[in-house]
Amino acid sequence: MNSNLKKLIRCLSDGKFHSGAKLGEALGITRSGVWKLTQQLSTLGIEVESVIGKGYCIPDGLSLLSLPKIKNHINKNYLKQIKKIKLFDQIDSTNNYLIELARKLSANKRNEIYVCLAEQQSAGKGRLGRKWVSPFGANLYLSMLWSFTKDISGLGLVVATTITDTLELIGIKNIGLKWPNDVLWQKRKLAGVLIEVSSEAYGIGNAIIGIGLNVAMPVRAGASIDQPWVDLRAITDELQDRNRLAGLLINNLAQNLSLFRQKGLKAFMQKWRRLDVCMNQPVCVITPNNKVCGVAKGIDEHGRLRLENKAGKITTFSSGEISLRI
Ligand code: BTN
Repeated sequence: MNSNLKKLIRCLSDGKFHSGAKLGEALGITRSGVWKLTQQLSTLGIEVESVIGKGYCIPDGLSLLSLPKIKNHINKNYLKQIKKIKLFDQIDSTNNYLIELARKLSANKRNEIYVCLAEQQSAGKGRLGRKWVSPFGANLYLSMLWSFTKDISGLGLVVATTITDTLELIGIKNIGLKWPNDVLWQKRKLAGVLIEVSSEAYGIGNAIIGIGLNVAMPVRAGASIDQPWVDLRAITDELQDRNRLAGLLINNLAQNLSLFRQKGLKAFMQKWRRLDVCMNQPVCVITPNNKVCGVAKGIDEHGRLRLENKAGKITTFSSGEISLRI
C-alpha cells in the first residue's frame, strides 16, 4: 500500500472531518490529489463521507491494528510459543501467506506457532470455495500455523469454541455454534473458521487455522454477503477494540491448542454441547454430492455430526454444511 494512502487512513481513522486542504498539507499533496486518494479508499472497502465545507471523514472511524497493542493481551508463556506475528495492511489471504510460509520452513521449526493478520484481504477464502468479504480495518482476519503429529479430527470445533470463549470474555452473550465450526448470534453468522491442512514427512502435519470475525462491517461490503450475518457493532452498539480482540483470540487459541494436544477433543465436548444450536433440530446435511435430512443428535468423539433418520438410525458426517429445516 502506498505511504500516502496509509497516512490518509491514519488521519481519517479518528472518525472526524478533515478538510481537503489540511489533509493535503499533512500529506504534501494537492487537494485534488487528496480527492484521488479518497477514491482509492472505497476500493479497499472503506466508506468515506465527503461534505462540502467540512471535508472528508470515515463515519465511526477505524480502530487500526497494532502489533504492540495486540501483544499486550497475550500471556507471556504463550507469547514464547509464538515465533512470529505478521501484520499486513493488505494481502490476498492470511491463510495463503501461512501455507506458503509452511512450505519454506524447515522441519525443525515445526513446533512453533506463526500468526498472520491483515487489515484487508483481496481474496479472503471461506469454506466450500466461498469468498470471505474482507474490507479494510473493519473486522478480524487472522490465521495461525500450528503443527501436529496426532489425529486432529475435531480441530474446527476446538477453534469455534475458542472464538466463543473470547467473545464471552468481552461480554457477548447468546452465542451459538453450528457444526462444523460456524459461530452464530441469533442465527446470523458472526465468525467463520477455515482450516487447511498439509502433511509433511515424518508424520508431521501443518494446520493453517483461519478465522474471520465480523467486528464492524461497512454497509456496502456487508451487502455482498450471501448469507445472514451480524457484526459485534450491531450486537453491542459499540466499536470494539480489535487489538484486544486479536490478542485475546491468539492467547486463547494457543492455550486451547495445547489443551487439545494433551487431552484431545473430549476437553471441549461439554462446551460444544452447551452451545450447539442444531441439537435435536431437523436439519439437512449438504455434501458436494449429496443432501441427507434428519434430526441432528450432536457430535461424536471425533467431532463428526450425528444425524438420526426416521427409522432412528444414526449416520455420522465428518464434513459438509448444515441447513436448518423450517
Ligand atoms: C467460513 O466460510 O465460515 C470460513 C471463513 C474463514 C475466513 C478467514 S479470514 C482469515 C483467513 N484467511 C482466509 O482467506 N480465510 C480465513
